[in-house]
Amino acid sequence: MRYGEGLLDEIRRRTDLVQLVGRRVKLIRKGRVMWGCCPFHGEKSPSFKVENERHAYKCFGCGAGGDAFKWLVETEGLTFPEAVEKLAAEAGVELPKWSPDDEAREQKRKSLYDIVELAAQFYEAQLREAGGHDARAYLKRRGLDGHAAKQFRLGYSPASGQALIEFLKAKNVTQDDMLAAGLARPAENNRPMRDFFFNRVMFAITDGRGRVIAFGGRALEEDAKPKYINSGENVLFSKGHNLYNFATARAAAIKAGTILVAEGYTDVIALVRGGFAHAVAPLGTALTSDQLQLLWKTAPEPILAFDGDGAGLKAAHRAAHLALPQLKAGYSLRFAFLPAGEDPDSFLGKNGPQAMRALLDAALPLSEVLWRSETEGKDISTPERRAGLERALGAIAAQITDAKVAEYYRRDFDQKVFDNFKRRAPRPDRPQFQNDKFQRGQSFRGQGFKGGKGPFRPQPGTAEAVSPAVRASLLAKAGLAGQAREGALSRKEAELGALLLETPSLALAHGEKLAELPFRDPSLDRLRHELLNLAASGSSLEKTPVLNHFMRLGMAELLARLGATSKPGAPTPDSMPEDETEARFLRAAADFRDMAEGEPERERALRRFAAEGSEESWHEARRLLRSPHE
Ligand code: UTP
Ligand code: MN
Repeated sequence: MRYGEGLLDEIRRRTDLVQLVGRRVKLIRKGRVMWGCCPFHGEKSPSFKVENERHAYKCFGCGAGGDAFKWLVETEGLTFPEAVEKLAAEAGVELPKWSPDDEAREQKRKSLYDIVELAAQFYEAQLREAGGHDARAYLKRRGLDGHAAKQFRLGYSPASGQALIEFLKAKNVTQDDMLAAGLARPAENNRPMRDFFFNRVMFAITDGRGRVIAFGGRALEEDAKPKYINSGENVLFSKGHNLYNFATARAAAIKAGTILVAEGYTDVIALVRGGFAHAVAPLGTALTSDQLQLLWKTAPEPILAFDGDGAGLKAAHRAAHLALPQLKAGYSLRFAFLPAGEDPDSFLGKNGPQAMRALLDAALPLSEVLWRSETEGKDISTPERRAGLERALGAIAAQITDAKVAEYYRRDFDQKVFDNFKRRAPRPDRPQFQNDKFQRGQSFRGQGFKGGKGPFRPQPGTAEAVSPAVRASLLAKAGLAGQAREGALSRKEAELGALLLETPSLALAHGEKLAELPFRDPSLDRLRHELLNLAASGSSLEKTPVLNHFMRLGMAELLARLGATSKPGAPTPDSMPEDETEARFLRAAADFRDMAEGEPERERALRRFAAEGSEESWHEARRLLRSPHE
């Protein structure tokens, strides 16, 4: 280990563990010890204690426990050395340098980081310059605005092929360093050294700490080959050891309890923008063991959401087989299958986050995916074929090195084979056609496999499961309906806001009602808060002074959005008598509550349908999706 126990102790002593844990867990003092609800397992009464004197935390419910380093490893997904560095920095403890050689290497690396960071800033700036016009237009076509560019540090590499080199030269960066950082290609055959990337949209790739270490560059033309170019391997960048967006996804993944893996940069960006902050992607190669280990550090069952095409399916199967020898108790993978021809980016664009969520919730476990890949489209009706299948399944289980997990896979496969044959055998008490009908809805992605267990299996009490294709399209429709409802909700919410600004005294007359409205828009929430404050403090609730007050509070943007004008004496054209606003307010408030309250139930029903695919669950979801307010 790099750091001695003495040094680690010193950091522990100087770290305020209560304060550190308190950033995530609400703690209450009882004597010398602080107590809270354990963040590692769900609980309602506190059995999780934190003691500064012992420099330790411990849960009496689930047994989780450790010191400040462990805390950061477990809650933020840092590696141990990262946790040490972070706490040492916070505690003002200087970490020793290693050997002079290490030191020199580290210095070198440090300067390369700075150089790559300079390049990232250069590309970002170029995207905003006149020369970045086409790249901006390209991103805009893909729904990525300046805000997205900033968030993901998107950029543009100019077409000249010398621009970055010139820029770095002016910053006294040597040619050797440009090459070492992967930013330039060496001179050859009388051609001078040139930029590694030119005329591409640039995606900054960061390491686990958020430092830029490499780039992916996408061609602007649809048919360009290669579509993407990525930095080559170098001292800073190793494709197989990093994941796109890992630095920011890590904490989100730990919070969400899972991590999403897509294939492409654009998928990750779309996912994050769709509310799935815990999305990452490999870097232009198939998923590696090291990446899998990184994923497992953040969540026990990462979900792979690969493209709905042959390549995506192949990549998923590759990942499945990669995982087998590394499986251990509690750790696995799940697979979300996108409709044919879609990737997460396009799927989100067409169907919205709600449909994406349903698709992720319906992700299949690894064992199911392996079973399907051995059986779908295959005829396994004869004893010989059945024996062949069993051998193939046995070979899969044999790849699992963890004895316990391997044993459970064997049992699971045995059960599946057994169920499948039991169902396939003609039953004298049942007419054959009924059997056929029973099996029709179950093929996986419309392929020929009959029988089998899984989410599309008919649920008890239902006649038949809907087919996966129908399921995907129903989910997509539900996604659109969800968007429509979202739209209706925000309009209703805005209407309430406008009414409140028109007649602020509503906050006095109907304070309780107002306080209970389930506002989603934070600025409306704030408006409500300020209005209730004014009402409680006995201030004037005349329209003009209230609007002026809000302007002073910096809420001009919201007022403009809601169409309120604060010019004294300027009557709003559609100003209306107070009792009419009151009646409208009460009606809108009731509508809004109805609309908002049905939402969790609708979501649950949709999730159930996504998981079961049964007709009954669809009918239930559809009944709830028909909101009376559309
Ligand atoms: P895709 O072809 O699915 O890219 O490759 P995408 O993200 O959907 O791209 P858009 O939407 O067409 O822009 C997935 C990933 O494979 C790598 C990249 O990392 C890409 O994000 N890739 C792809 C390459 O490295 N080179 C290529 O030529 C193509
Ligand atoms: Mn794709």
